[in-house]
Amino acid sequence: MKISGVDLKDLKEQYGTPLYIYDAKMLKDNMRLYKNNLVSKEFETEVLFASKAFNVKEMVRIVDKEGLSLDCVSVGEFFTALSVGYDPKKVYFHGNNKTPEDIRFILEHNVGVIVVDNLMEIVALDMITKEMKKPVDILIRLNVGVSAHTHKFIVTAHVDSKFGVAYDSEDFKTMLEVIEKSEYINFRGFHSHIGSQIFDLAAFDAAIDKLVSYCKDFKEELILNIGGGFGVHYTDEDKPIPFDVVSKNLIETCEKALKKNNVKIKKLCIEPGRSIVAEAGYTLYTIGFTKKTPNKEYYFIDGGMTDNIRPALYQAKYSCDIVGKENAKKDHLVTIAGKCCESGDLIIEDYYLPEAKPGDLLITYTTGAYGYSMSSNYNKALTPAVVFVEDGKSKLVVRRMRLDELIEREE
Ligand SMILES: Cc1ncc(COP(=O)(O)O)c(C=O)c1O
Repeated sequence: MKISGVDLKDLKEQYGTPLYIYDAKMLKDNMRLYKNNLVSKEFETEVLFASKAFNVKEMVRIVDKEGLSLDCVSVGEFFTALSVGYDPKKVYFHGNNKTPEDIRFILEHNVGVIVVDNLMEIVALDMITKEMKKPVDILIRLNVGVSAHTHKFIVTAHVDSKFGVAYDSEDFKTMLEVIEKSEYINFRGFHSHIGSQIFDLAAFDAAIDKLVSYCKDFKEELILNIGGGFGVHYTDEDKPIPFDVVSKNLIETCEKALKKNNVKIKKLCIEPGRSIVAEAGYTLYTIGFTKKTPNKEYYFIDGGMTDNIRPALYQAKYSCDIVGKENAKKDHLVTIAGKCCESGDLIIEDYYLPEAKPGDLLITYTTGAYGYSMSSNYNKALTPAVVFVEDGKSKLVVRRMRLDELIEREE
């Protein structure tokens, strides 16, 4: 089996397993699909990559080359972007509890936009910008009461999320008062993010409708950032909407809402993370022992929850194949278990595969988002290497962690 012309057995030989593999061409194609289709004659548009989904230097370089902006949620992500010369002015910085140190760091390094999450944050930002005499553009993160998860969405009256403020709340009014008095804070618009793995575009329509209706209360043309959350294919239950269709639909919805409300906006932003990287990513493992119990059959792999926590964390489902046996009879109902000392360390449960032998390679699909970025050294596992493949060539972008690195910060 090959990815972008590179044989998986050769990758195992060269880099070992577990191994994160990214199809670099697909990463670029995904970015272009969003960028080329999120266009309007009525307002500017901007596509940001939500870097929490996969933030490494080489990824930021590609984001930069493809002309996307960046969503960062921590100084660590921001620092990674700076380290490859990424323009900090193109960074939107998020977070519900930015520390004074975080705020000072990003201001010192000329962050583009801070997405302010709550009342206490705007007060802190007011103080720090004054002290540093540093102007900053901000968006306010609104909780629009549209909550979308997977195939359904709901509009709630009660907005209790840890993120954002409600438009009709006292906190929001006070935030505007703080901004009004501030010499350094420039209010530019709103942000909202309604959930993840969303397949129902009506959820975005509902959010856009609300955001646009709020714009009527402001004289200046605002920026609307409607977040990410566009769904991807993990298993055949998932039916993602093509990104060009998503982008065009968002534009259409926004243009209609603007007309209906007789208002203009400056810019519409989206910040997809998962949908840009998930399906471009694969994880390659080596199968070791196998085992039968009265009711189950296990294939054990040389990685597990330390390189993919999502099944253990929120019962995420994946699909997989045994390399070279993709077309063999899948007559074994097996559970793919990792090597961590944890019963919940199961990557895929009750899945039909062919018979496996120790040394066979197992590939899991759609692991490009929140896999590497959520990886851990639990059980003192070594973080796997990451390679990008394209046109028959592979490139190491993160080398495998070494044993000595596990203890280098320890006294
Ligand atoms: C504020 C914000 N923007 C964008 C994203 C990216 O979402 P996704 O990776 O589902 O596209 C997230 C994900 O949690 C988020 O919290």
